[in-house]
Amino acid sequence: MFDKSVYISRRKRLLAQMKDGIVLLLGNSEASCNYPDNQYQFRQDSSFLYFFGLDKPDLAAVLDVESGEEILFGNDVDIDDIIWMGPQPLLADQASEVGVGKTAPFARLADCLKAAQQQGRTIHILPPYRNHNKILLHQLLGLPLSGLKEAASVELIKAVVALRLVKEPCEIAEIDKACNLGYAMHLTAMKMMRLGMVEQELVGVMEGVCKSGGVMTSFPTILSQHGETLHNHSHDAVLTEGRLCVIDAGVEIASHYCSDNTRTLPTGGKFTQKQKDVYHIVLAANDYAREASRPGVTYREVHLGAAKIIVQGLKNLGLVHGDVDEMVAAGVQGLFMPHGLGHNMGLDVHDMEDLGENHVGYDPDQTRARQLGLGSLRMARRLVPGHVITDEPGIYFIPALIEKWKKEGHNAQFINFDKLEGYYDFGGIRLEDDLLITEKGSRILGAQRLPITVEEIENTMYTD
Ligand code: GLY
Ligand code: MN
Repeated sequence: MFDKSVYISRRKRLLAQMKDGIVLLLGNSEASCNYPDNQYQFRQDSSFLYFFGLDKPDLAAVLDVESGEEILFGNDVDIDDIIWMGPQPLLADQASEVGVGKTAPFARLADCLKAAQQQGRTIHILPPYRNHNKILLHQLLGLPLSGLKEAASVELIKAVVALRLVKEPCEIAEIDKACNLGYAMHLTAMKMMRLGMVEQELVGVMEGVCKSGGVMTSFPTILSQHGETLHNHSHDAVLTEGRLCVIDAGVEIASHYCSDNTRTLPTGGKFTQKQKDVYHIVLAANDYAREASRPGVTYREVHLGAAKIIVQGLKNLGLVHGDVDEMVAAGVQGLFMPHGLGHNMGLDVHDMEDLGENHVGYDPDQTRARQLGLGSLRMARRLVPGHVITDEPGIYFIPALIEKWKKEGHNAQFINFDKLEGYYDFGGIRLEDDLLITEKGSRILGAQRLPITVEEIENTMYTD
């Protein structure tokens, strides 16, 4: 938790952006897994954490835009809770730790909201993503369950996004820490990989490193020799010679700030020439994106610049042909990189995506493209100092997608489909760093960049 002044200032800046009404912010509750008392690891709502720092279940807060009054709702534990969970801080003490002066039992939240409704006041809510909070909002506000997303306050969403998008120095220090732990996690896998291992062995050790210094992974680990499946969560294959293994994994430290890195490793420790040829293109796109990322440039432009490097590289390999700018305009790169260049990162690995991808990643003058790849770009905005974004270009050979484009004749004038058949067992390559936008450009978060060049990777693998 940060100093209480951080939370006080954030709430003040939130309310300063709002016209009137009251703001209702819900924390998360415990969620049962396979029977009521067997619960998933508790994860607080990130906006609640951002404004209140309190990492406990069953809390909610109401902020009065006009009077500035702040009330934290929750319950003090009883003796039954103490028997199972041990003594817990009083609600009033928790509130005072983050500068909130007034508390009330959770049951009083309903009265507070009813009174506001009777006075005709606007109640601003964020779009709920957990069923528990959806039902709670339905009960508290009488909103239909199917209409909660639409009932969310765009004014509040925009105000929250404006604050959370630009990271404060105390947040950057936490993200640097998360990236340092993420570094240790990836480096462990890089050194430990051996032919004959089952992928899951690496996943288990990586997640052990993550949990020994943090609280959880920032998303389910992706580790697969089938890297052409973008989010491949099956880890049951044996590592075999000549394959590429995509490892996309991140950590969440105790403050809940995240890291997210991807490296692609040759299973036997040495890249083949064919693998190197594609790898160098992805690395060039990654390096370009970091160098091009600076205040004033949009990340959409950076995505398209990276796409140009990818298309040029594939042209050099004879996999596509034609004018590079024409190919990029036609979206040829989408066949090989059907995802966006990156996303915002902070308290969520895909920061604030619960608030709506377009609210988070698009400036008011930007509209989302429909093209494969560019249409999945989660962060398109004009960059400003304090943005934390991922830089994660990739090249994948997805036989089903290639066959689909071939059958449909999609961009057929540019693509050498016959030659691509020789890549159907190639897999995919993705290389991901986390960037902070600075006054002059950008820097990689964490103390050190994970090994990334062919030489660095080969010199790190099979060494211990
Ligand atoms: N690293 C997983 C993702 O960005 O979707
Ligand atoms: Mn990512």
